[in-house]
Amino acid sequence: MKLVVIGAQWGDEGKGKIVDYMSEDSSIVVRFSGGANAGHTIVVGDKVYKLHLIPSGIVNPDKIAVLGSGMVIDPEAMFNELDGIKEQGLEWENRILVSDRAHLVLPRYRQMDLDMDSKRKNPIGTTGRGIGVTYSLKSSRDGFRVGDMYDEERYALLEDEDREFLNIYKEKMRGMVCNISQFLYENKDKNMLFEGAQGVLLDLDGGSYPYVSSGYSCSAGAAIGAGIGPKQLDKIYGICKAYTTRVGNGPFPSEFKEEKDGDLGHQIMTIGKEYGVTTGRPRRCGSLDLVALKYACWSNSIDSLVLTKLDIYDTFDEVQVCIGYEIDGEVTGIFPARIDLMSKAVPVTKSFKGWKTDLSACSSYDDLPLEAKEYINFIEKFVETPIGTVSVGPDRNQTFNRVDPWA
Ligand code: GDP
Ligand code: IMO
Ligand code: MG
Repeated sequence: MKLVVIGAQWGDEGKGKIVDYMSEDSSIVVRFSGGANAGHTIVVGDKVYKLHLIPSGIVNPDKIAVLGSGMVIDPEAMFNELDGIKEQGLEWENRILVSDRAHLVLPRYRQMDLDMDSKRKNPIGTTGRGIGVTYSLKSSRDGFRVGDMYDEERYALLEDEDREFLNIYKEKMRGMVCNISQFLYENKDKNMLFEGAQGVLLDLDGGSYPYVSSGYSCSAGAAIGAGIGPKQLDKIYGICKAYTTRVGNGPFPSEFKEEKDGDLGHQIMTIGKEYGVTTGRPRRCGSLDLVALKYACWSNSIDSLVLTKLDIYDTFDEVQVCIGYEIDGEVTGIFPARIDLMSKAVPVTKSFKGWKTDLSACSSYDDLPLEAKEYINFIEKFVETPIGTVSVGPDRNQTFNRVDPWA
């Protein structure tokens, strides 16, 4: 079976945790988009892994982790990350492959990224990791791919400083480089998991453009970025939090605002530890936006959702969701493409009674209090998509399936 896991919001939904949990039953995990802009935290007992470029599947001991063609790879960041996980006792040798079609992020692109963003009239608030610069060069056909390091003619055309930088990594990487389509074909009978970064609302085409990242973080991106045909993909899982967060700038209709929601945003940020893994920036917090989530489910063929961080609401008297947008006096359930409309949207909310119970030890749907079940049932009905897996804490064990994803 081939399973795709994507973020169904603006990133940081808990993809890392869920990919680690779900990859137990797969042999190969392919990360298909983004670069070191991503930040994924995985907690297994007393070990905490923080990954950016390396697929979260690496934490499971016997999995092959592939950095796909749709990724943009900063080799310095990649080897720093590999050194870091090695220090934590994770053996990765002979388990990491890198697509020869993936593009390389060169050091000067990071500064170019920051300069470009600071010159924008409305900055995006990028992570400064050179992501947009690398994807732009790729689109204009001026990029430099992993495989190009071993093409003497192309290598010789590089600027001296770029070549000197890559000289450090060229031989270290050689044994990891693969033709990904061929590799997946040769292993086509094995279970594979395709791991997204960012989220549907940060996707270059489907997201809140221009306040997006530059890769294809949508489900279709799995086929493009892994070099596999879309018909090979059996199931699409979308990860969403019990609320919504966003890092960086851009419209966020269901964002908690002090004037109407008081301290709610700050409370969620504190209890949910909503600080970026990559930049340390506080994440903006809001209620679960079901208008955006329904759009994410439909436009990505999401078969099943994973609801994470349900435990963050354990102490709240009331839990809110956004069920519509009021734009220019009219209520709509449609997620707009235009950011001026998205910025104007006033959320129409619905409140649920809080469960006031510690969920962290729940290990099945039946263990959940009635109020939490009602919250789950409402979401499923509204977005017309089942919630197959629930997460009630950061640890791998604090997760339960209602339906086995690999069945
Ligand atoms: P990703 O980018 O989608 O992989 O998500 P991040 O790792 O950036 O952010 C999710 C954060 O929430 C991480 O610190 C996780 O350890 C944590 N987390 C994931 N699921 C849960 C959950 O169900 N409950 C709690 N309390 N924390 C969770
Ligand atoms: P994970 O995989 C949340 C956001 C940045 C910025 C915008 C563009 O951890 O969910 P970029 O550096 O990509 O050009 O920045 O996208 N962004 C993320 N936000 N989670 C992420 O990844 C993100 N990756 C990029 O904050 O607003
Ligand atoms: Mg993250």
